[in-house]
Amino acid sequence: MSWFTKLITSSIGQKFISGITGLFLISFLIVHLSGNFLLFKADNGEAFNAYSHFMSTNMLIRFMEIGLVVGFLLHIIVGIKLYFLNKGARPVNYAERNANANSSFFSRFMMGSGGIVLIFLVLHVYTFAIRHRVLGVEGTMYDLVKIAFQDPIYTGFYIVAMFLLGFHLNHGFQSAFQTFGLEGKKYSPLIKFLSTAYAIIVPLLFATMPLYFYFNLGGN
Ligand code: HEM
Repeated sequence: MSWFTKLITSSIGQKFISGITGLFLISFLIVHLSGNFLLFKADNGEAFNAYSHFMSTNMLIRFMEIGLVVGFLLHIIVGIKLYFLNKGARPVNYAERNANANSSFFSRFMMGSGGIVLIFLVLHVYTFAIRHRVLGVEGTMYDLVKIAFQDPIYTGFYIVAMFLLGFHLNHGFQSAFQTFGLEGKKYSPLIKFLSTAYAIIVPLLFATMPLYFYFNLGGN
């Protein structure tokens, strides 16, 4: 068996892939959030559209997008495999009786929260990137965002998804550091603090965007 086959088939190898791709996606969220702040600029979307145009035409960014897709796919596949591996390794009765004692609510909810975030992601990428870039739907990217968040159901689903993204990030962030062996008496409190802060602040800031458009806070 080659080292690569070993890496992707062993439980520790899969945890490693889950952690490394998770941290990569965590850094993507910071970049995505920062760019999206341009939506709040009172210029009728001019700066945001210029940014969106740059992101969809720059060759380097397009190349990095491949990494993003691969990162998401690996994270999802390995996450599902680990879920079933853990489920199979634990006798049902034992796990049920001791669920609270053995693991936090967030860790037991990783498959559930991840599943909803995945549904969000498919819907999200379709609504903006695919409809604008592939299907050539009329209007600028800013127009698409503005129109999408006039729908209460679409906006409501985003808010729910951001809550669950927070749950997912809260456990995922800490778990990744645990996998990399950085958990010890010295680092644990700091990692716990950083992951909880990230898991609250980032989804909360994302959630302000649909709410801003739904309640027309920009006033145009
Ligand atoms: C809730 C506030 C959010 C808004 C307003 C927003 C807005 C957008 C827009 C307008 C695009 C299209 C960009 C383009 O093609 O030029 C996009 C793409 C994307 N978004 Fe978001 N986003 C939000 C949250 C998120 C979250 C929380 C995630 C991940 C969990 C995410 C993941 C993505 C991905 C993967 C793409 C495709 C990237 C690409 O086209 O290269 N977004 N987003």
